Amino acid sequence: MTPANHEEHYAADADAPHVAAASTFPASDADALWRVLATRRDHRHFHPTPVPRELIERLLSVFSVAPSVGLSQPWHVTVVQELAVREAVHAGFRDVRATEAERFSGERRELYNTLRLEGILQAPVGLVVSHLPPDGPVLGTTAMPAASEYSVISAITLLWLAATAEGLGMGWVSLLDPAHLSGAVPLPTGARPLAYLCLGYPSLDLDEPLLQTVGWGQRRPLPVDWV
Ligand SMILES: Cc1cc2nc3c(=O)[nH]c(=O)nc-3n(C[C@H](O)[C@H](O)[C@H](O)COP(=O)(O)O)c2cc1C
Repeated sequence: MTPANHEEHYAADADAPHVAAASTFPASDADALWRVLATRRDHRHFHPTPVPRELIERLLSVFSVAPSVGLSQPWHVTVVQELAVREAVHAGFRDVRATEAERFSGERRELYNTLRLEGILQAPVGLVVSHLPPDGPVLGTTAMPAASEYSVISAITLLWLAATAEGLGMGWVSLLDPAHLSGAVPLPTGARPLAYLCLGYPSLDLDEPLLQTVGWGQRRPLPVDWV
């Protein structure tokens, strides 16, 4: 039975009568989820096959099950399919990439200049995911205002997993100036773009992070302390 009010919720805590039914899944479901987690990749190579609109809508329904601080749902998504808009976004990417290359020197810069870091023009779909702050105070953001933006990011992570489960590839492009992105893509007033996501059918199998394959970096063991 669901506790009806605040006091009963705390009482349910103290009674701890049983493990909630929703937490029991067959092992095959859990295995499937772990497979999705292990095979999710950041993709930058895409096949031109269009993504059906119903599938895009299905993926976007992830936002209706995603967590958000105070249930505030502080997000907005712009689906970009027009090539002209993607070209405008790509122009911004080229500028940032040129600036970023200068932060590295020697062999590191040479390697940087060979990296494939986006699929903006190849991916038939781009998603601009913005933070759209709700009016008024939001429960849970008093001491940690950034929790509002974290909510958007955590929803994107779920979207990434759902795309993987549906056989799609997603690639996150952060080499973009938010001010340029706001000019290139029409966004609602008050929306601050946090991510440009390339979405489509991947054209390259990736068994490990591409940056690892090309020798830029390596997955490391988790630094963890138990106290
Ligand atoms: C916030 C964020 C921004 C990222 N921005 C870029 C990017 O601009 N270009 C790129 O090629 N990859 C980008 N990535 C993908 C990472 O390079 C990738 O997640 C990492 O190398 C691990 O590879 P994997 O996601 O395939 O496991 C980004 C990932 C995150 C989480």
